[in-house]
Amino acid sequence: MDGVAVKEEVDPGAVEGTSLRILKYPHPLLRAKNEEVQEDGFNDDLRKVAREMLLLMYASQGVGLAAPQVGVNKRLLVFNAEGSEKAFLQEVVMVNPTIVASSKKMLQEQEACLSFPGMNGQVGRHEWVKVEGYRLNGKKFKVKYEGWKARIFQHEFDHLQGVLYVDRLGLEEDLERVKPRLDELIEEYKKNPYEGREAAL
Ligand code: CO
Repeated sequence: MDGVAVKEEVDPGAVEGTSLRILKYPHPLLRAKNEEVQEDGFNDDLRKVAREMLLLMYASQGVGLAAPQVGVNKRLLVFNAEGSEKAFLQEVVMVNPTIVASSKKMLQEQEACLSFPGMNGQVGRHEWVKVEGYRLNGKKFKVKYEGWKARIFQHEFDHLQGVLYVDRLGLEEDLERVKPRLDELIEEYKKNPYEGREAAL
């Protein structure tokens, strides 16, 4: 992932076509409140951020990204379960998403997150979720995601609540395993806090 790791994510640093950067744990904007996009917020600025988030996501070899991860505290997420620009028809951009129903059944799988490079861990997610959200043109839509897509969606949706996948690691062994990496990320952040918030929103 962001979402679930199929391949190792890479930190692309600066990416052509965007001044946005992916914020890493423990950047405080990852925990900040994300505002709903209002009617007049479905504008060119929002479309620009969404497009640049997709650029960053592909450059990082991720399959999803949420707006707070680029320092934009709005309820906006993008994902592509194929993780490839070539499969652009699989791109999903969702504004103000809500989960209206979900399976009782939970599935455990490995996840990773572009805000936590160099680690992963097992997280339980609903097998399916029914979702409502808005497209960039303001049109409302409903969709059911299952399996892999459901997992990616739930991971990105969590970001909009300020919830990070490390909060959901269920295995004691995973918690112990990632602890040194989390400490490293905290040290890296102290040395080089990225305060950028260069989006127009
Ligand atoms: Co993530």
